[in-house]
Amino acid sequence: MCGIVGYVGQKKASPILIDGLLKLEYRGYDSAGLSTIETNSISNIKNKGRVNSLNDIPELSTLEGTIGIAHTRWATHGKPSVVNSHPHMDNSKTFSVVHNGIIENYNDLRIFLTNNGYNFLSQTDTEVIPNLIHYYFSKDTNNDDKKFLRAVQSACNDFKGSYAIEVISSLYPDRVIVTRKDSPLVIGIGENENHISSDIPAILSYTKDFYLLDDNNYVEIYKDHLNFYNSNLEKIEKSIKNIEWDATAAEKDGYEDYMLKEIYEQPKSIRETIGSRIKLDAPSCFDDLNFTKEYLSSLNKICIVACGTAMHAGIATKTLIEHLCNIPVEVEIASEFRYRNPIINEKTLAIYISQSGETADTIAALKLAKSKGCKTLAISNVIGSSITREADYTIYTHAGPEIAVASTKAYTSQVVLLSILGIYMAEILGTTKSYVLEDLKKEIFELPNKMQTVLNDVSGIKNFAKLVHKEKDMFFIGRGTDYAVSLEGSLKLKEISYIHSEGYASGELKHGPIALIEDNTTVVSVITNEDLMEKSISNVQEVATRGAKTFVVTNQNIDKSRFDYVVEIPPVNSLISPALSVIPLQLFSYYIAKEKGLDVDKPRNLAKSVTVE
Ligand code: AGP
Repeated sequence: MCGIVGYVGQKKASPILIDGLLKLEYRGYDSAGLSTIETNSISNIKNKGRVNSLNDIPELSTLEGTIGIAHTRWATHGKPSVVNSHPHMDNSKTFSVVHNGIIENYNDLRIFLTNNGYNFLSQTDTEVIPNLIHYYFSKDTNNDDKKFLRAVQSACNDFKGSYAIEVISSLYPDRVIVTRKDSPLVIGIGENENHISSDIPAILSYTKDFYLLDDNNYVEIYKDHLNFYNSNLEKIEKSIKNIEWDATAAEKDGYEDYMLKEIYEQPKSIRETIGSRIKLDAPSCFDDLNFTKEYLSSLNKICIVACGTAMHAGIATKTLIEHLCNIPVEVEIASEFRYRNPIINEKTLAIYISQSGETADTIAALKLAKSKGCKTLAISNVIGSSITREADYTIYTHAGPEIAVASTKAYTSQVVLLSILGIYMAEILGTTKSYVLEDLKKEIFELPNKMQTVLNDVSGIKNFAKLVHKEKDMFFIGRGTDYAVSLEGSLKLKEISYIHSEGYASGELKHGPIALIEDNTTVVSVITNEDLMEKSISNVQEVATRGAKTFVVTNQNIDKSRFDYVVEIPPVNSLISPALSVIPLQLFSYYIAKEKGLDVDKPRNLAKSVTVE
């Protein structure tokens, strides 16, 4: 999705802005641009394509301004083109704006402005913003220092939709004004300089001290101070948050790609997720949760709502939570949930999982549950992200920044965190014998070492990937939690290798999909549940008989000679096995994509954080 960067300081702004945009590239975009304040005028440079193409524009090297705003655009209104790229300026070229999100009523505003003599050059929703700011600015007869701010606020009062906005003006060459609603924006504090971004990693190399903005906050950002205002433009105080991630954690650290680095980080990220939340011989605890037996006993169900990989983490842990807590768990796709009338009420605990914490559908689904009286719990990886501000409770995965579009370490952290949550609730409820919970805790503690064992030898996975990388279709099958992880394995393959694949419950094969199996179709199966092992093996045999190439991930004692390739993983309780069995599937997709020469970190048509519908 789109990305925002800004700088107010004493250095030349343009190289800093470009550096920030490059760090946002992983979000996906189709054009880029920046504006700086030069002597009494604004310079605007933009281009279709990569951020680096801005360096080909000769004017860039002439920019001396020390204040600027910049943007990577992912087209929503109007095709990718120079004219549709941000920043957008008003007709008089007094104001320049970059914007993330969508102004839903832009058409009405465009008609209003056109009737008031304004012209539009682009097809974007964004172009109404600088023109509306100009409109209100020119109507304001009070020429005090807050006139610029008032014009921005008046314009925002007219917007329906979501936005994070940076505005500069040639009339106020000492400041950037920013505001947000339902779209992320942070301010990084430096020595005689301040940085702005939609994403923390973009400015992490400059500072670790951040201000996180709430919806409808307005901020005047100068090089040496900031003024914060609420929606009525009354001054407010904000406190600085120290973000522990260091800059190198957000870089590739010697790995060829972010995705590979993040796959290999999983033993570490799981240790962080566990933290001090579980202890042997002591009750589990979440600093930010205060669930009581009375509250948990009153629940009629738990709804887990999310998108994509995060939703798969919900499917993977549904069985564990039901089994330990004896509460029904429904897992829902956020984009479906938000548009139906789900039967939920104050007796429903609604859990929302989102790595980024900015996924539009997940946030909207959370708001719906709140309006129906549910208590809402957000699970996110990004501190202070939008979803965490909406939810009644938040628990963080602490997986560290995930840059690759394909989610890997966030998934395993979500699975582990939900498992710990299940244990925590079962302890309060008293629904599971304590020795069972203690055993599960031990298994969770052992996960990082077991993950490391899987990561230590990937040669077999690499070889099998090489063998099948030219395939057009593949299947991922499993039963129980192995089915859940098959869905995730299939999504990983699709998104980074562009190979069509389907995740199926093994028992469903005979109800249709087996018709698609022919000579050399690759079928990947996961077998980690002893009770379901025989049945799962029979299903793999059924496809093998029809000519399928079989790749099996297992920790069961099976006759390897019956399959084309077997990856053995350490034994693990099947309730938490997805956190381990997914790793060979992540690597399988990764090596196939590499074999095909694809950009694994930035797959086509995808963005890291889906902040619009
Ligand atoms: C995962 O590989 C995908 N990129 C995608 O499905 C992702 O999990 C989904 O968009 C949800 O994102 P979130 O966790 O940030 O809400």
